[in-house]
Amino acid sequence: MSTVLITGCSSGFGLETAKLFLEKGWNVVATMRNPGGDILPASDNLTILPLDVTDPGSITSAMERAGSIDVLVNNAGFGAAVPIELIEPETARQLFATNTLGTLAMLQAVLPGFRERRSGTIINVTSSATLKPLPLVSVYRASKAAVNALTESLAVEMEPFGVRVHIILPGRSPETSFGANAMPHLRGLDNPDYKPLIEGMIANFRDDSGPVTHAADVAAAVWRAATDPNAPLWIPAGEDAVQWMAQAH
Ligand SMILES: NC(=O)c1ccc[n+]([C@@H]2O[C@H](COP(=O)([O-])OP(=O)(O)OC[C@H]3O[C@@H](n4cnc5c(N)ncnc54)[C@H](OP(=O)(O)O)[C@@H]3O)[C@@H](O)[C@H]2O)c1
Repeated sequence: MSTVLITGCSSGFGLETAKLFLEKGWNVVATMRNPGGDILPASDNLTILPLDVTDPGSITSAMERAGSIDVLVNNAGFGAAVPIELIEPETARQLFATNTLGTLAMLQAVLPGFRERRSGTIINVTSSATLKPLPLVSVYRASKAAVNALTESLAVEMEPFGVRVHIILPGRSPETSFGANAMPHLRGLDNPDYKPLIEGMIANFRDDSGPVTHAADVAAAVWRAATDPNAPLWIPAGEDAVQWMAQAH
């Protein structure tokens, strides 16, 4: 039976992906910063482990307890909507520490085993926001675009070793905790020049009347990447992301 390890399973895409792989009969190592509650169905195939991707000791401990894994899903991440001139240096640092360097640290934790075994699959969740020059999410986009770039190079490095590598690009998903988790980092509403842009962005993010991405879309895209040997490197997830991808290429 195959084993998947997923980061950021406390809510949203990570939680939905963990549920899907459990339903499909996989062993699931669902990791989260603060385990607790009954958010996942009880199962002999489920292991829940604490894991903060910005904490090297936490990564080492989780990987030791997880044992051998076949698929790594780098899903943990957060966003921030701030004009470039107003972003707090600490927010910018945290975005790269979590979204980019956290992903890199997880890759370094599993790649030696995957390379030696000549098998394994890496699935990095980035964002369709990397496909367009959107305002206010510049540093978030940069942190995810950096993951796109390193994943492209990783795919070339791993190809001789039979390790598959994929990028999932979700679209805008108002149904997860992403928007709420971004709110503490918001700056600029007190600036009359930026206020209308920020208010418009918040209203647009919460609007679910147009094409949006559902957590189930992302779980399905991750499932495809994990199980289809012919899955492409780039996989948009969600109706809006599919549209954006088509426009970008
Ligand atoms: N929702 C969207 O519109 C959207 C669109 C494109 C891409 N994405 C990306 O999709 C991924 C999942 O987002 P989501 O929409 O499911 O948002 P979410 O509901 O906020 O889930 C994000 C998860 O990441 C975890 N996380 C944050 N920092 C972490 C850290 N240092 N170590 C370990 N886990 C950490 C969170 O854990 P805590 O509960 O501990 O905070 C949470 O479990 C993220 O990488 C996000 O950037 C989201």
